[in-house]
Amino acid sequence: MALGNIVSEVFDTAREMLKPEGEEREAPFGDAITILKADHREVEALFESILEEKNLTLRGQRENIAKVLAALTLHAKIEESLLYPAVYGKTKRDTDERLKVLEAYEEHASMKDLIRKIGRADARDESLKAKVQVLSELTKHHVTEEEHEFFREAREVLGEKRLIAIGEEIRKIKARAQKRADPKSKALAARKKPSKSSSRSTIKTKK
Ligand SMILES: [Fe+2]
Repeated sequence: MALGNIVSEVFDTAREMLKPEGEEREAPFGDAITILKADHREVEALFESILEEKNLTLRGQRENIAKVLAALTLHAKIEESLLYPAVYGKTKRDTDERLKVLEAYEEHASMKDLIRKIGRADARDESLKAKVQVLSELTKHHVTEEEHEFFREAREVLGEKRLIAIGEEIRKIKARAQKRADPKSKALAARKKPSKSSSRSTIKTKK
C-alpha cells in the first residue's frame, strides 16, 4: 500500500489516534468551552511535536501533520456550525462583540486555506515545514484570541445552560466522527509497513 494512502487513512482516523492507548475515546465532559479548550491543547502538542521534536521520523512527522490537519478541520467545523452562530445571534451589528465573531470566522478562513495547501503538498516539498510553521503561528494567535476574549464573551452572552447544551452537541459530532473513523483505524493497525519505494507521497485531506 502506498504511503500516501496510509497517510490519507491516518487523516481519517486522526481523532482516534490522538488519544493515548487505552484512554476513554470520548470528548471530555463539560460545557462547549471546556471541550474546545481541550482541543486547543491537543493541537498545540501536535504542532510542538512536528516542529520541535528532533527524533521524530519522517513518517512520524507526516502522520502528525495529517493528525493536526484533521484535528483543526473538525474543530473549525464544530465552532462554525455551533458556537459562532450562537454568539453571532446574540450580538448586534457594528458592535465590538459582533466584530470578534466575524474576526474568528476570518481567522478560520485563513487557517483553512493553509490547511488545504498543506493537504495538497507533496510530502517531500521543501516548503512543507514552513507552511506548517505558519499554520502553527496562525493557530496560536487564534487560540489566544479565543481563550482571552471570544470564549469570555460567549460565556457572557450564552450563559452556562446554553454552553452545556452546545457541549452535548459537540460530543455527538465527535462521537459520530469517531464511529466513522473506527473501522479504518482497525484496518490501518492491521496493515504492514509500506515498502521504501512508496515513500513519495502527498498528504491528503478531506474536502
Ligand atoms: Fe477557532
